[in-house]
Amino acid sequence: MPLTRKAYRAAILHSIADPAEVGIEASYEYFEDGLLVVENGRISALGHASELLPGLPAGVQVEHFPDALITPGFIDTHIHLPQTGMVGAYGEQLLDWLNTYTFPCESQFADPDHANEVADIFIKELLRNGTTTALVFGSVHPQSVNAFFAAAEKLDLRMIAGKVMMDRNAPDYLTDTAESGYQESKALIERWHGKGRLHYAVTPRFAPTSTPEQLTLAGQLLTEYPDLYMQTHISENLQEIQWVKELFPERKGYLDVYDHYQLLGERSVFAHGVHLCDDECARLAETGSAVAFCPTSNFFLGSGLFNLPMAEKHKLNVGLGTDVGGGTSFSLLQTLNEAYKVMQLQGARLSPFKSLYLATLGGARALRLEDKIGTLHPGTDADFLVLDYHATPLLSYRLKQANSIAETLFVLMTLGDDRTVLQTFAAGQQVHQR
Ligand code: GUN
Ligand code: ZN
Repeated sequence: MPLTRKAYRAAILHSIADPAEVGIEASYEYFEDGLLVVENGRISALGHASELLPGLPAGVQVEHFPDALITPGFIDTHIHLPQTGMVGAYGEQLLDWLNTYTFPCESQFADPDHANEVADIFIKELLRNGTTTALVFGSVHPQSVNAFFAAAEKLDLRMIAGKVMMDRNAPDYLTDTAESGYQESKALIERWHGKGRLHYAVTPRFAPTSTPEQLTLAGQLLTEYPDLYMQTHISENLQEIQWVKELFPERKGYLDVYDHYQLLGERSVFAHGVHLCDDECARLAETGSAVAFCPTSNFFLGSGLFNLPMAEKHKLNVGLGTDVGGGTSFSLLQTLNEAYKVMQLQGARLSPFKSLYLATLGGARALRLEDKIGTLHPGTDADFLVLDYHATPLLSYRLKQANSIAETLFVLMTLGDDRTVLQTFAAGQQVHQR
């Protein structure tokens, strides 16, 4: 294959460590006039333009963005493909919301044409919001995952997804069985896991909708294929937690249900965790599991406030999730805007550099992909964004008053959304242009 090499000149910022571990100043690298060099889909150099430009081989094209910020692509650690058509469903909290809106909407994925249509819309929406990697729930139907992976593969995206396993407490039209859920998941794993930049996640929806037999088989898949992901929901809503107690009276608590069925581990991501207790955070951290913090969803469904300081105390891996359609935006910038308010309501702060970490490197660590995505370090995948300082008149005017990259970043996260994302690159290819 011929060598393709291209360079991008702009202000460049990436997170290189968790501010909770190293302090804010050591957590990022910023190049006011930077250069990012991309070769064959990977980053080959990053630094000050003045230092790198003289050594750049003749003929390498340099694209200059004088009023923009290059960052790594955003990583959404929790989102539902089949809920794209029901964002903003009125009036209910989790359990009624599932029955009233979610299950009927997901049932449409029995039709492969519908699955293909929504997969296209969904991936376009991810990319126009700057999300280059997502951990995605399909519906119970294998075709939801086939449609998603086929569309992601065409663009060489790094994506993780799985078919929902759900064999009780849901309408008949939307359930599998312990055995069929296992077999269908296995067929999808054989077809997609490790193909290009795609990965499979075993996806029991949450404890109430899986029998003990199904949870056992989910755990079995994880032992049969050691580098698989596992995704589910936990401790999002108080009624949900009470229901889990009734369904699994023999277990110590919600997390212990998943622990018993051997679903915790380094590639396991638990969405929400709003009401986790200290011991559960410790156990999640001990097993290398991660939590997806989903602030727009937790506000919208009235679920509660995620305790990020408690997670930090336990050194628990935390990523950011939009949780569309419980969440109200595909934008991780808007998700960070709400995350800031979650901290404010608990008398805590969320620094813009911690926010950047959550949306990029923190997500990559939650997914054990930090050697491939989440930073702009040479050798990693060239998945990056060009954020436009003049995306809206207000943003443009407001940023004129900003005196530091910290302030600029915070304003981008407060006022920014899909309009802020001028271009999105995946594996070095432009996959979105506003
Ligand atoms: N718990 C079980 N299923 C779901 C879902 O689809 N969305 C959310 N937010 N929570 C869940
Ligand atoms: Zn969810």
